[in-house]
Amino acid sequence: MPVAKIAPSVLSSDFAQLATECNRMVKDGADWLHMDVMDGHFVPNLTIGAPIIKALRKHVTAFLDCHLMVDNPEKWVDDFAKAGASMYTFHIEATDQPLELIDKIHKAGMKAGVAVKPNTPIDKVYDIADKMDMCLVMTVEPGFGGQKFMANCVPKVKALRERFPNLDIEVDGGLSLENIDQAAEAGANVIVAGTSIFNAEDPKDTITKFREKVNA
Ligand code: DX5
Ligand code: ZN
Repeated sequence: MPVAKIAPSVLSSDFAQLATECNRMVKDGADWLHMDVMDGHFVPNLTIGAPIIKALRKHVTAFLDCHLMVDNPEKWVDDFAKAGASMYTFHIEATDQPLELIDKIHKAGMKAGVAVKPNTPIDKVYDIADKMDMCLVMTVEPGFGGQKFMANCVPKVKALRERFPNLDIEVDGGLSLENIDQAAEAGANVIVAGTSIFNAEDPKDTITKFREKVNA
């Protein structure tokens, strides 16, 4: 299994202090920063777009793991690449041409991730998994931070890990030190956590513990 990467979701940060919050997380041990992009169509919420990534990029050198919860994900590839995004993860439910989209993302110079909602069967990505850099298995319905972890999504992680031992598999939604063992044992190695890191008394200690549990 690839090594652990801990990616705090800045959706739970103070947006008015975004650059400071991002650099605080990096100082506390974050490997990646998870950026939740929502368009009010694919999910019932609005967050940030490429202009914010671009502004942030001037102050943050870390790997920006962008999770696009949007319709027409093809539309924003070039903007995100120019803005300085490192990874562009689109939802498999939002496109009919995932292979073409992966190719477009790679040509734009970013890593390509493919996300799967809780009710989407994981076998939908088997045919394209060797082309992607990461698969994001959602463990809540996308749209909001602070929701309850859906343990019934864990078998999807296990099935994917059995078939793709070297793939980065990311879990996102409701992750905490209480349920991380389930996700890690199933084979997840990229851990997104918003509430449980930003609300922790000691975020650095929480990030360290997440990493230890995944690498155990
Ligand atoms: C939900 C987002 C998540 C969310 C995670 O749609 O994709 O990244 O911010 O936040 P927590 O860890 O609070 O569930
Ligand atoms: Zn996310």
